[in-house]
Amino acid sequence: MTAVAPSRVPVDLRPLVDSDVDAVLALDARVHLNTWSSGFLRSQLADPTTRTNLVAEVDGQMVGHAALLVVVDEGHVISVTVDSDRQRSGIGTVLLAALFRDALVRGLSALTLEVRVSNEPAIGLYQRFGFAPAGIRKGYYADSVVGGPEDALVMWAHDIADPAFLNRVDGAIDRAGRNSTDG
Ligand SMILES: CC(C)(COP(=O)(O)OP(=O)(O)OC[C@H]1O[C@@H](n2cnc3c(N)ncnc32)[C@H](O)[C@@H]1OP(=O)(O)O)[C@@H](O)C(=O)NCCC(=O)NCCS
Repeated sequence: MTAVAPSRVPVDLRPLVDSDVDAVLALDARVHLNTWSSGFLRSQLADPTTRTNLVAEVDGQMVGHAALLVVVDEGHVISVTVDSDRQRSGIGTVLLAALFRDALVRGLSALTLEVRVSNEPAIGLYQRFGFAPAGIRKGYYADSVVGGPEDALVMWAHDIADPAFLNRVDGAIDRAGRNSTDG
């Protein structure tokens, strides 16, 4: 799958493949406190029937990636990452929109994820797609820089087959594209 998305920069999306693993780990090392192991990441590529792994590229360079895990009729967003110098240019929106359209094609009924309670940018992004807070997992993230383990906010988007969800996905993409002309 390749798509040119209407974000602030032209973004190409494609499936993540084995030869991308080193680039993903290098990108994650620039953005996250901890990265997945190469073995775990490769294991995520082994079963496309239960996983969607996407890479975003600008001018042939990897600028982000995102992953969805299918559990029965639910989709779990297990990662979305945009390289530090490319954030806030609509790429995260484009990646999530592609994952969510894939979830609809798969016939899933709901989406869920965990996010650090301090991660306001990501929480704001998920809310734009209609995700709502549903609970807290205490001490879910053991790797926080300050204050010991950090709690996770659990968020859900229910009834994604309702046309309102796809409208929100389309709206988020439109907004990302509109922002591209804001200068
Ligand atoms: C979260 C993340 C994926 C967002 O990707 P992005 O490409 O920067 O997001 P977008 O440019 O599509 O932003 C969409 C919206 O998200 C929110 N947002 C994104 N970055 C934000 C920031 N730094 N501060 C406040 N809001 C922010 C805004 O609502 C934004 O819309 P706007 O620009 O019209 O105001 C990116 O910041 C990232 O990789 N962060 C580190 C990894 C991470 O936290 N991943 C999520 C783990 S659950």
